[in-house]
Amino acid sequence: MATDIVLSVAGLAKSFGGLKAVQGVDFEVEKGAIVGLIGPNGAGKTTTFNMIAGELPPSAGKIILLGEDITGQRTDMLYHKGLMRTFQLSHEYARMTALENLAVAAPDQTGEAIFASWFAGGKVRAREAEVLDLARDTLEFLGLTHVADELAGNLSGGQKKLLEIGRTMMNDSKVVLLDEPGAGVNPTLMRKVAEMIEQLNQERGYTFCIIEHDMDMIARLCGKVVVLAEGKVLMEGTMDEVRNDERVIDAYFGGEVV
Ligand SMILES: Nc1ncnc2c1ncn2[C@@H]1O[C@H](COP(=O)(O)OP(=O)(O)O)[C@@H](O)[C@H]1O
Ligand SMILES: [Mg+2]
Repeated sequence: MATDIVLSVAGLAKSFGGLKAVQGVDFEVEKGAIVGLIGPNGAGKTTTFNMIAGELPPSAGKIILLGEDITGQRTDMLYHKGLMRTFQLSHEYARMTALENLAVAAPDQTGEAIFASWFAGGKVRAREAEVLDLARDTLEFLGLTHVADELAGNLSGGQKKLLEIGRTMMNDSKVVLLDEPGAGVNPTLMRKVAEMIEQLNQERGYTFCIIEHDMDMIARLCGKVVVLAEGKVLMEGTMDEVRNDERVIDAYFGGEVV
């Protein structure tokens, strides 16, 4: 049923000069699903995410979020519509504490807030207190309360990943794009990251689309896996179907001495 699809891309393409990084990609993400996006380096996975998240205008194709054509819409607009992608912490965020990182991820009321600070100072302070409460609850959920006042730049790789995921919780996201949540994370924290994803999926109904090289993590989390190679969808299916498919094995290892 069409209403069960929260995100779909059709004919999505992106060229960088002469390089066709993404060449007509189609896939759908169902409500409440955790979809994996895998493929060899340079397959076009991150470029696909960048287009969905509004950071790169597509050369062609359409992106539909919750029934609305969002093609070319900017990141901040999409954020308000409940689509969020996580980032590796930037320098700016590294110099804020873990708690502050979450607080600034709460949706701000922009113009409204500026007006309100002149005319209704008390209301703004109440909102600030609400945001800090939510940030503290989120840190607790993530098991990061002990590093609340630590600068994010000083956290371990895994703690930073958890914090990135925590930022999506400040906005009650509907669809979350995770680009390599397992990269640079030790196995213990990796399990924790996977648990968080499962918990947000099951308890809060978040839908995820995850780029990941760790196939154990993909197998554990994802019902459906979309395999990209050379900017195209090579196949999609369950992890079992994918791992036994000749084309996939070829795409990863073809022409190389393994
Ligand atoms: N901003 C860019 N300018 C030029 N080429 C790019 C840019 N971003 C990505 N590419 C190229 O597009 C291709 C796909 O890259 P990417 O989407 O990052 O792949 P993946 O995430 O699957 O490893 C690669 O050949 C990469 O070098
Ligand atoms: Mg990438």
